[in-house]
Amino acid sequence: MTERLDGTVALVTGASSGIGEATARVLAAQGAAVVVAARRKGRLDALVADIGAAGGTALAVEADVTDRAQATALVERTVAELGRLDTLVNNAGVMLLGPIVDAPIEEWDRMVALNVQGLLACAHAALPHLLAAAEDSPRRVADMVNISSVAGRVPRLGSGVYNLTKHGVGAFSESLRQEVTKRHVRVSLVEPGAVDTELASHVREEVQGAMRKRFADVERMQAEDIADAITYIVTRPRRVAINEVLIRPTEQEG
Ligand SMILES: NC(=O)c1ccc[n+]([C@@H]2O[C@H](COP(=O)([O-])OP(=O)(O)OC[C@H]3O[C@@H](n4cnc5c(N)ncnc54)[C@H](OP(=O)(O)O)[C@@H]3O)[C@@H](O)[C@H]2O)c1
Repeated sequence: MTERLDGTVALVTGASSGIGEATARVLAAQGAAVVVAARRKGRLDALVADIGAAGGTALAVEADVTDRAQATALVERTVAELGRLDTLVNNAGVMLLGPIVDAPIEEWDRMVALNVQGLLACAHAALPHLLAAAEDSPRRVADMVNISSVAGRVPRLGSGVYNLTKHGVGAFSESLRQEVTKRHVRVSLVEPGAVDTELASHVREEVQGAMRKRFADVERMQAEDIADAITYIVTRPRRVAINEVLIRPTEQEG
């Protein structure tokens, strides 16, 4: 039942590492022309070269999506250069864990700026194009995949503001889903548990210890495992919308 993505255009934010990078590779392998966006242009250029060598099409765009003008310009450049936008993977995110009391408040600002406002800016700019793609593309369907987390379902001591941002992503996604689903824009929420990426490396050293302890006996997922779930979502036939995917390492209990 898998429908290939030939002739479609996908935009993946946070594609310079981890889940975004892995997702860009598989969407390109499925035939989509993929715009890869993040701040580290060198890594995006290397990814574009890899995708090209594998026979795919990709374009690197340096963008800090916490700057609304850059987020808007990213979407507009996608459409200007590749002609359309069928799939947005709203993936860029940061996880700065730690207790709420005495937290460096700029960490909260960074999480809200990227996980909430950055995601919203990309969604806002992309929606007119996704709605247009759902009307006039050969597949007559378009996708917005928003990357949340288990932390978007389960609040935990020590991840309060990350929980806040990811719960917000879940609430926004479900409201938007109801608004646009009859127009065949599918809004999907992906909620991974622990994945082996750079994400945890940005957590303060004094908080890292507790994290390492929590996941000491857990074999974490690979970025490709999440990319696989995203690919499943966006390659369903028009009549099928995968609204939500909660995906944990087998050994992760909570
Ligand atoms: N890893 C996990 O265990 C896990 C679990 C649940 C959910 N998630 C979610 O999965 C998503 C991807 O995370 P990951 O695990 O793949 O981590 P990652 O390897 O750290 O990737 C994060 C990506 O976001 C980009 N980014 C950061 N700030 C940005 C900005 N201001 N503008 C544009 N891009 C920016 C980074 O690139 P640059 O630094 O080059 O900009 C990088 O490409 C996040 O939303 C995260 O919350 C991850």
